[in-house]
Amino acid sequence: MPESFYQQTNESPDQQFDQSLRPPGFEDFHGQEKVTERLMLMVEAARMRDDVLEHILLSGPPGLGKTTLANIVSNATGTNLHTTSGPQIEKAGDLAGILTNIQKGDILFIDEIHRLHPAIEEYLYPAMEDYRLDIIIDSGPSARSIQLNLPKFTLVGATTRSGMLTAPLRSRFGLVNRLDYYTTAQLAHIINRSAQLLGVEIQDEGATEIASRSRGTPRIANNLLRWVRDYAQVRADGTITPSIAHDALAMIEIDNDGLDEMDKRILEAAIYKFNGGPVGLSTLAVAIGEDASTLEEVHEPFLIMQGFLKRTPRGRVALPAAYTKIGATPDPQQPGLL
Ligand SMILES: Nc1ncnc2c1ncn2[C@@H]1O[C@H](COP(=O)(O)OP(=O)(O)OP(=O)(O)O)[C@@H](O)[C@H]1O
Ligand SMILES: [Mg+2]
Repeated sequence: MPESFYQQTNESPDQQFDQSLRPPGFEDFHGQEKVTERLMLMVEAARMRDDVLEHILLSGPPGLGKTTLANIVSNATGTNLHTTSGPQIEKAGDLAGILTNIQKGDILFIDEIHRLHPAIEEYLYPAMEDYRLDIIIDSGPSARSIQLNLPKFTLVGATTRSGMLTAPLRSRFGLVNRLDYYTTAQLAHIINRSAQLLGVEIQDEGATEIASRSRGTPRIANNLLRWVRDYAQVRADGTITPSIAHDALAMIEIDNDGLDEMDKRILEAAIYKFNGGPVGLSTLAVAIGEDASTLEEVHEPFLIMQGFLKRTPRGRVALPAAYTKIGATPDPQQPGLL
């Protein structure tokens, strides 16, 4: 069950819930101050010059607010937002279809931009730089290129893996922003706001209790809040107190640091099956029966940030905190730590 808290597809049943809690403007978006300050400045400057925003790249682990920020920028500039994602654009024609629907100043949001087909990327370069699309029609001797002029637009790209972006694509963004995990205090603030929107009574320490187990991630905070709300309704009078929050989260096996079943399985495998590492990502993924990219994008960044795992050129290494977490004794001879 906890795994589902980290996954978010377009068809997710949580989507409506997600939407209603999504802050519509900068004033409701809490945290990531550096990023929001830059974006607000850009919006203001463009407004003063009556110009279109530079292209923006947003990177960072899932659920930290990339899509939300794209929406906020679009709201703040009063322009239309066209949303698509890397894997959705299969042919040059798909891109042409989207770009020819765009009006001056509109925002094209490409989620998972690192998954764009390389051939599509080539078409995107002149579109980003010169607002021009060169399309080859027909093939063989009758192949010819036609050029479409596009209105000036802003591309907002989001990626969970900025390292996978090609250098030419990355360099075409005017502003590259990396979102970081939120602090517990920031998440508590977000949880209080969400509780208010949902009409749930919550005590401050109850919010902190949920926040501290949300892996620095607003999406998880909101999902856990919803679970705790249900629990409080059925097992108590509906108010979220610290002890209700604690019991509710214990029931779904989320521990004090926000680690779930899968996180613990990762640490246990690294320690017991591979003697603490170093162990390669794909080997580790097979051992726990999880997809390597999910492991790398969803679980690992948090485990590394919290000091449970270390990434080395030879593979992943379990750190002393990981041994403490699962109640194992570190081996002083462990090769990965030497
Ligand atoms: N700073 C914030 N303040 C309040 N709520 C936030 C904030 N950031 C994110 N959220 C909430 O978290 C949810 C997830 O955010 P969002 O969908 O923007 O993440 P994402 O970075 O696009 O994730 P993914 O990589 O999975 O697409 C949003 O629906 C919103 O309700
Ligand atoms: Mg998103």
